[in-house]
Amino acid sequence: MPQLIRSSVTPLYHQLAQTLRTQIRSGAIPAGQQLPPERELMEIYHVSRNTVRLAIDALEREGLVDRDQGRGTFAAEPKLQLGVMRLTSFTEDMLERGLTPSSRLVECRTELPPPAIAEKLQLLPNEPALLVVRLRYADAEPMALNSSYFSLAQCPTLASEDLEQGSIYDLLNRRYGITLAKAEQTVRARNATPQEAGLLNVKAGTSLLVVEGTVFSTDNHAVEHLRSLYRSDRYEFRVNPLRIA
Ligand code: GLP
Repeated sequence: MPQLIRSSVTPLYHQLAQTLRTQIRSGAIPAGQQLPPERELMEIYHVSRNTVRLAIDALEREGLVDRDQGRGTFAAEPKLQLGVMRLTSFTEDMLERGLTPSSRLVECRTELPPPAIAEKLQLLPNEPALLVVRLRYADAEPMALNSSYFSLAQCPTLASEDLEQGSIYDLLNRRYGITLAKAEQTVRARNATPQEAGLLNVKAGTSLLVVEGTVFSTDNHAVEHLRSLYRSDRYEFRVNPLRIA
């Protein structure tokens, strides 16, 4: 059994989720087979019950396991995704690709967003939002530049959190009880400006994938307006379209 790395900046539950994910995806734990019970996972990986629960929660959200009250947790039958991209955090996305995520905070300030963004974020007139710009790394190499406005009505103290460590989507859930449900996004290409190129460590003019949109919570509040720039030499989108009659 691979052991978890306690000194890593990647939280233990992410590491445990990744280990179990790999076992499920590779067929080492086939669909329908029961995962070891909580207590056994705690002993095998030397982690707390909470760590095991957070890891299983993440796998459940991804549709990789099903919990059956009283019977245990089982590897799920693979589900087809209906032509949609799953809404993942950068952290989850990288871990699923077998890469180690990290971040550098470039900017964090409260300001009035441009009117079009304020409207998408469902803000009141003159209501500010929190702009967070993070350079996102995968295996210590720049992968993406995330610029997001967060609604302060939804997460009023986000600016005082350590936004350089870990996942903002996790923070939204743990601190503010926000469960993200869906996003409305577009993906297009454009060339990097000299400043973006400098941050992303590519030549100016290199083409980038630009993802832009709004993320909503389960209670239908707009939580984040995002613009993420991905290096097209390192990143590809994964979609599973279905042809339906
Ligand atoms: C993706 C989204 C961003 C979002 C980020 C959160 O990259 N495109 O809009 O801010 O995930 O990632 P994390 O939870 O790892 O901070």
